[in-house]
Amino acid sequence: MSDFDTVRAETRAAVEQAADPAALEAVRVAVLGRKGAVTDLMKNLATLAPDARRAYGAAVNALKDELTQLIETRRAELGDAALAQRLTSETVDLSLPARPEAQGRLHPISQTIDEVIAIFGEMGFSVAEGPDIEDDFHNFTALNFPEGHPARDMHDTFYLPDAADGRKLLLRTHTSPVQVRTMMNQTPPIRVIIPGRTYRSDSDQTHTPMFHQVEGLVIDETTHMGHLKGCLAEFAQAYFEVEHVPLRFRPSFFPFTEPSAEVDIGCSRKGGELKIGAGDDWLEILGCGMVHPNVLRHCGVDPGRYQGFAFGMGIERIAMLKYGIPDLRTFFDADLRWLRHYGFVPLDIPSLITGLAR
Ligand code: DAH
Repeated sequence: MSDFDTVRAETRAAVEQAADPAALEAVRVAVLGRKGAVTDLMKNLATLAPDARRAYGAAVNALKDELTQLIETRRAELGDAALAQRLTSETVDLSLPARPEAQGRLHPISQTIDEVIAIFGEMGFSVAEGPDIEDDFHNFTALNFPEGHPARDMHDTFYLPDAADGRKLLLRTHTSPVQVRTMMNQTPPIRVIIPGRTYRSDSDQTHTPMFHQVEGLVIDETTHMGHLKGCLAEFAQAYFEVEHVPLRFRPSFFPFTEPSAEVDIGCSRKGGELKIGAGDDWLEILGCGMVHPNVLRHCGVDPGRYQGFAFGMGIERIAMLKYGIPDLRTFFDADLRWLRHYGFVPLDIPSLITGLAR
């Protein structure tokens, strides 16, 4: 075999065996590189007679072209194989859902707060918030609870050590102190809804030491009790998703409202099943009234010019009524099975257009 045939045969074999682009490149260098086999053949040129050189040079060049072609063909094959390999190993299953169904659930308290905000938001209310740790002034005094008044004792307050400036600190017993903060920081007209945590030292079947309330406050020059009634009727219908919910206002007492009322909604309890809006039974859902002039005064609002209404209700209570949750304490057991059963799909933001709960 001539040197040419040897180089050709060995190169063919090596090219065929090269399993990846790096191995092929090593073959190329060994054959066509500066110290490669083809370059070696070219060196023989000097030893030949001048008239033989031409043909020999042409033959080496032809071999070089042939082997270059061979290597490039193999390189393309290896590239195709690598791509095919990636295409099979990196497949995307387009039939899979783009976003798997969310695993977590929204707690019914969060859902209920979102629903209440959506309903009052439609009526032009904005959300206000205040601190869980309050002082005696905002939680009681400004709300017209005189020092030593028995109404203070009704709240079973958790007291904290006094603040450095002598203020008596406590865990707020209701969301009403945020009425005070709002009136001190905004000028009427005011229309706010105030959801939040509240605390009382009380624990039994129907009380937990921490619970949630939502407070409403409207202050302007002409607001009257008829507006309060219309607003609550609107809320009850939207929240309970019932065409007509009868409302009953019973006279009551709260230090911060005058007159004050407790509101019952019409329901039926036939056959042990609670139905809101039907029947001739009543169920208490909230307290309300016209804001007491003393409260306005304490908050720097002129009672000669402004008036308004307020209301407050328990979130757990209205959540239990709407979603048929029988036991208050289960809200705070952190039991995943309970949450999977009573919880809500996140990102389903409640609105009056898409429906409140799904
Ligand atoms: N703060 C009251 C409570 O916790 C509830 C309440 C009653 C709030 C009447 C109000 C209201 O704003 O007007 O028992």
